[in-house]
Amino acid sequence: MSEEQAAAPTGVTMDEIVALCKRRGFVFPSSEIYGGLGSTYDYGHYGVLLKQNVKSEWWRAMLQERDDIVALDSAILQHPKVWEASGHLAGFTDPMVDCKTCKLRFRADKLEDAACGRKPSKHPGEGPDCELTDSREFNLMFETTVGPVKDSGSVAYLRPETAQGIFINFKNVLQFARRKPPFGIAQVGKSFRNEITPGNFIFRTREFEQMEMEYFTAPDQADAWYGRWIETRLNWYLDLGIRPDFLRVRPHDADELSHYSSATSDVEYLFPIGWSELEGIANRGDFDLTQHAKFSGEKLEYFDQQTGERYVPHVIEPAAGADRATLAFLVDAYDTEEVEGRKRTVLKLHPKLAPVKVAVLPLVSRDGMPERAREIFAELRPVIQAEYDEGGSIGKRYRRQDEIGTPWGVTVDGQTLEDGTVTLRDRDSLTQERVNAEGLAELLTAKLAEPWTSPKLG
Ligand code: GAP
Repeated sequence: MSEEQAAAPTGVTMDEIVALCKRRGFVFPSSEIYGGLGSTYDYGHYGVLLKQNVKSEWWRAMLQERDDIVALDSAILQHPKVWEASGHLAGFTDPMVDCKTCKLRFRADKLEDAACGRKPSKHPGEGPDCELTDSREFNLMFETTVGPVKDSGSVAYLRPETAQGIFINFKNVLQFARRKPPFGIAQVGKSFRNEITPGNFIFRTREFEQMEMEYFTAPDQADAWYGRWIETRLNWYLDLGIRPDFLRVRPHDADELSHYSSATSDVEYLFPIGWSELEGIANRGDFDLTQHAKFSGEKLEYFDQQTGERYVPHVIEPAAGADRATLAFLVDAYDTEEVEGRKRTVLKLHPKLAPVKVAVLPLVSRDGMPERAREIFAELRPVIQAEYDEGGSIGKRYRRQDEIGTPWGVTVDGQTLEDGTVTLRDRDSLTQERVNAEGLAELLTAKLAEPWTSPKLG
């Protein structure tokens, strides 16, 4: 283990994750041929599949496994009044300082305290001549204009969170989905923030995807649902294989709470950069519906015709980042070990998250093996995410599949042509068993449904 690796709390460095993502086509720096655009990333084939699986598992947990949540896909561009009502225009700011010497910009609240107790005082890489400006508030909203005329009437914002799209559709869902509290509205989509200090790969970027759900409850039920949602969301990460010692729930101190929240807890993961937020679960009270009712003039409340009960629902919000969750799954899965005297790098991803579930490999590119392997691939492909891989030695192909986290490898060899069996290789245990090629799709589908714990737990 390198010194840097030993220092990283997870045993893997961010540089190793970035290198694997580039090498295997998960994630590339955006606009690379033009020298890149800081902190924006493009997802390649395996990255798309992995992130899609993360989002699918989120949807599955929100929609398929429950009957109290409905889906929404609201527009990224919304009426500017939405952001006035939500408080983002006035208050979605971070304190910013500039170094007059280095011409670099920093978040004042992320700089170290000075010995004298004044903040901010120093910045990373500070020299003797460095001098920081006073801190000033910087709004994180990306502003744009709608239509060809650039005047104040046409200002719009790229949404900084998906949540507000949900609140402004509360009435629609209440009417057309005929829901009554407690019920939730879930949304997955892009959000944009002009972060002062983005960084750490896909952990903090200016364009990212959120997975948010707003759960509307009767006011006296909100505290109980807040607790339930913290537990539910923590279990989602655990069920998808994140090691328990690398996850924790951290309640916010009173001075950390957002203006709308009476209580918030973060689910944190032990990233190579230390414990950091993966998801926030907030009790937003009736702040959002009350604000949008005030600014829009619409009644945003629940009225029970049978009992005559009327109230503005309170909201519990589990808000997760799809890119950040993807990064956590990558970090948690990354492993290196020695196999038969050679180093192997492997992503021990939960099979449900793995970009490819099964690789079909002819042992050699002759004697009818590629043809039979292609037939098996064609049978598996409609049922399960499969990949056909013919180039290079079988050992090299196994290593490639290990690095993209493929849980199973099916090898077609001479015996396959004689008795119809193939070798089924397991990514984690490295066991190889002979099974019938017929019925493989059913066998692998059953394996995929089995409970799974990280082999890194030992
Ligand atoms: N509606 C509440 C809300 O947006 P947040 O804590 O600002 O809360 C929720 O964001 C989640 O979105 C975070 O826990 C994180 O996973 C993700 N997220 C926020 N800013 C991000 C950024 N700049 N880059 C990547 N993910 C981000």
